[in-house]
Amino acid sequence: MNIMLLGAPGAGKGTQAARIVEEFGLVHLSTGDILRKAVADQTPLGLEAKRHMDEGGLVPDEVVIGLVQDRITQPDALERGVLFDGFPRTIPQADALGAALAESGLALDAVVSVEVDPEAIVARITARRQCRGCGKIFNVATDGDFAVCTECGGEVYQRDDDTEATVRKRLAAYDEQTSKLIPYYAEHGTLFTVDGNRSPADVYASISEILHDLA
Ligand code: AP5
Repeated sequence: MNIMLLGAPGAGKGTQAARIVEEFGLVHLSTGDILRKAVADQTPLGLEAKRHMDEGGLVPDEVVIGLVQDRITQPDALERGVLFDGFPRTIPQADALGAALAESGLALDAVVSVEVDPEAIVARITARRQCRGCGKIFNVATDGDFAVCTECGGEVYQRDDDTEATVRKRLAAYDEQTSKLIPYYAEHGTLFTVDGNRSPADVYASISEILHDLA
């Protein structure tokens, strides 16, 4: 199965992705995670990406498309299937993904759009913390505030782009560009919509049911 999680910043894509890959064994492909690693490693790509990420804008299509094309042709992705998280985000990215999958005789089996009220998003993101070691996502409002990961003991940090001002710019980028993928996949793919305003467990129950029906 190849599945895509679509949703605004803070909709809960990363939170749900962790549960999906655990149950369904898919390769988790998060372009945000790949770009943050390139930034941390201070590669030329990371330096270019950081400028856009810190401003709340999107990294240029050609940069991100190249990253994804490399990853989806690796043997584990071809064998296990891929969960796309945060990619595609524009129509050219969606077209490129469709073409790259088709080249390997594959397709997107489902696009799951997680929808959350915009007012809830800013509160969620500014309260988010993440582990540098295992990537586990926390929320200080619901999980408590701690410096060390409860899973692996890694450092817990706040992302540079999780300030309120940057979140608002990221939401604007979603409205202007990424939200166009909802009608795109309603026409070209199999689009499912899930209410993301509920608890993580309830959201996951809906997603899991959709994926079991496909499997
Ligand atoms: P990326 O890392 O993809 O960020 P994003 O899409 O903005 O999404 P987030 O990671 O902020 O949120 P999420 O939906 O994963 O929510 P989470 O589960 O963490 O991208 C970052 C940047 O990289 C972009 O701005 C762009 O510059 C660049 N980029 C990446 N991909 C790109 C692409 N394809 N093209 C161009 N540029 C690209 O949850 C958020 C918080 O809410 C957490 O604290 C969590 O605990 C909490 N939470 C989760 N679910 C619930 C719930 N149901 N109820 C209550 N709280 C919840």
